[in-house]
Amino acid sequence: MMSANVLRFAHFSDMHLTSRRYSWRTEDWFNKRLAAWLNLTVAGRGYRFRHAPQTTAAMVRDLRQRRADYLLFSGDATAMGFDDELEVLTSLLPLDEWPGIAVPGNHDYCTKTAQREEIFERRFARWQQGQRIDAERYPFAVRAGDVWLIGVNSAVGNRWPWDATGRVGASQLQRLRVLLAGLTGEGPRLLITHYPVVRASGRPEPFLRKMHDLDAVIEVCAAGRVSAWLHGHIHTAFHFPKGVHAPFPIVCAGSATQTRRWSYGEYEIRDGLLRAGVREYDPAGDLFRETRAFELELA
Ligand SMILES: [Fe+2]
Ligand SMILES: [Fe+2]
Repeated sequence: MMSANVLRFAHFSDMHLTSRRYSWRTEDWFNKRLAAWLNLTVAGRGYRFRHAPQTTAAMVRDLRQRRADYLLFSGDATAMGFDDELEVLTSLLPLDEWPGIAVPGNHDYCTKTAQREEIFERRFARWQQGQRIDAERYPFAVRAGDVWLIGVNSAVGNRWPWDATGRVGASQLQRLRVLLAGLTGEGPRLLITHYPVVRASGRPEPFLRKMHDLDAVIEVCAAGRVSAWLHGHIHTAFHFPKGVHAPFPIVCAGSATQTRRWSYGEYEIRDGLLRAGVREYDPAGDLFRETRAFELELA
């Protein structure tokens, strides 16, 4: 029997929705956005995400049917970091229907301007409310039942098209250290960020895709009693128990919308365990259903 205070979390990621119109600027011909556009239109990314609006709508129906209590979004809402694309997402997924936490992915910071203008943050403001140690936006912590959710930004607006690396950065890392040390109250601490610890194979990310300060972030998280690292960026869902690649378990939500990889995670946390169901899209029925389940002991 489920006790009254056990929340049902839904963790989704890497929606990569795009729009029929984009607000191009002259600078976009000289930054990463042109390469992202070529990737989308010529290199097949658009084809891989051709069902993204339909899949998102099906996920929203599933969230309602499953009575998800709290949504966790680990970034890459967009293909090219346009506000037009975020508008598509918010038209399909009413953010005010659920409490949630959201952090950006590298595509949401496709350009330095997108990052500086906080396009993602303005759309997701409702899901970025919480406890901070100063005026800086990241990291932040929010309480959901007896669980602490900690939002860390690991995406940066990179200059070069081939650079898909991430970084938490020294100043955010220091704030994370202080934030974690100051959290009061018992209960598990779930870190939500975009970048992974390892790939599904267990191997580290390649140099041009890795999080540069990963080891330092893991160290701060371990010292700050983080119970699990929840992320996206890799479009296939996978997980590792604690002690394999980090002192805590790792869960990748995968992409909710990429054709034939489409899935999201449903979690309940009880008795020091994260009980997860992977809910996968079935195009024949235009619905999500659970295809596998797993349990992880929290750190
Ligand atoms: Fe992605
Ligand atoms: Fe990503």
